[in-house]
Amino acid sequence: MKVDCPSCHKVYNIREELLKIGKETTFKCEDCNGIIKIDLRSNSKKDVPPRPSQTTINEKQKKSVQLKKYAEKQPRGQSLKSKILQILMGRLPVMPQIVVKAQEVMSDPSSSLKDLARVIETDQGIVTRTLVLANSAYYGLAGKVSSIQHASVLLGNKTLGEVIIMAGASGFLNKTLKGYGLDSKILWRHSLAVAFGSKFIARKKFPELENDALVAGLMHDAGKIMLDQHVFERKEAFEEFMRDGQETFLRAEKEILGLDHSEIGSEICKIWGIPESLTIAIRYHHYPSLSKDNWLAYIVHVANSIAMMSGIGSGIDDELYQIEVGAMEFLGLEKGDEDDIMSEVSESVKRIGEELGEA
Ligand SMILES: [Fe+2]
Ligand SMILES: [Fe+2]
Repeated sequence: MKVDCPSCHKVYNIREELLKIGKETTFKCEDCNGIIKIDLRSNSKKDVPPRPSQTTINEKQKKSVQLKKYAEKQPRGQSLKSKILQILMGRLPVMPQIVVKAQEVMSDPSSSLKDLARVIETDQGIVTRTLVLANSAYYGLAGKVSSIQHASVLLGNKTLGEVIIMAGASGFLNKTLKGYGLDSKILWRHSLAVAFGSKFIARKKFPELENDALVAGLMHDAGKIMLDQHVFERKEAFEEFMRDGQETFLRAEKEILGLDHSEIGSEICKIWGIPESLTIAIRYHHYPSLSKDNWLAYIVHVANSIAMMSGIGSGIDDELYQIEVGAMEFLGLEKGDEDDIMSEVSESVKRIGEELGEA
């Protein structure tokens, strides 16, 4: 739906699913700060979103017939979800378990280095990645950290916990996703950018959520890893659905697979034991207004959009990079904050180094 600012006439394209019939929505124009009202309370013709034209309906019918053909052949929706979850239950990946354990230890103020070291001691790969990370320019200790104990002295346990979480997640997220057209570094860099962005927003506005924001940001797109093979197997259907350039990849997931990556990602994170407020944030990172005011969902959403706007993380999956109307205000952020977060995120991802993805 197109609306224009009554003061400067800048035109905005608002997704209709964000608007509620019978409600009034207001937001600030980003150029002139004028108030734009979208009033869907009355039944007058001009206030009701335009009905789709007959051609659009025919196109949609055609698309849904084609999609049904795929649905008959392959599992989708609930049956696809059960299939993925069943396979996962049989072999839970080690990396996310380390992320969960490290987060638990960090949330306990009485935890010690011993507790942290115990989390990773069984996995030499994680120890190596932790040391690579601790030695990155981001922590300002390039080449000085030689052991976990040493890292704890130089960084402190809280920061070491953060490094372990990232080291654990990097092994898991460092994957090539053929269906999404993402090579391993792209998904990892995007996840890292959203983790940093979420952490910065939390530090600015809700310091007590800093750790949770980092983990939710890191894991927000984990569902893509689970869906990738299924997206790849239905490549033709995705290409067909996206052909006219009017649809997002997220909508294609929902239409073709019957569920999107945020749904399966949050289900899986529940199984991994990630706390509920984080799984809600993962579930609603594209539409935080549906999260019933979950701060983390808004934080990860804004960080995700900022990462996409900065060009960190685009494959053929363009995601949604517009910040939902009202999300910045909900977090108490202003337009200028977006630029600050953007430059802080780009700088952090650069400083932490690409070699991480290969560690
Ligand atoms: Fe996403
Ligand atoms: Fe994302």
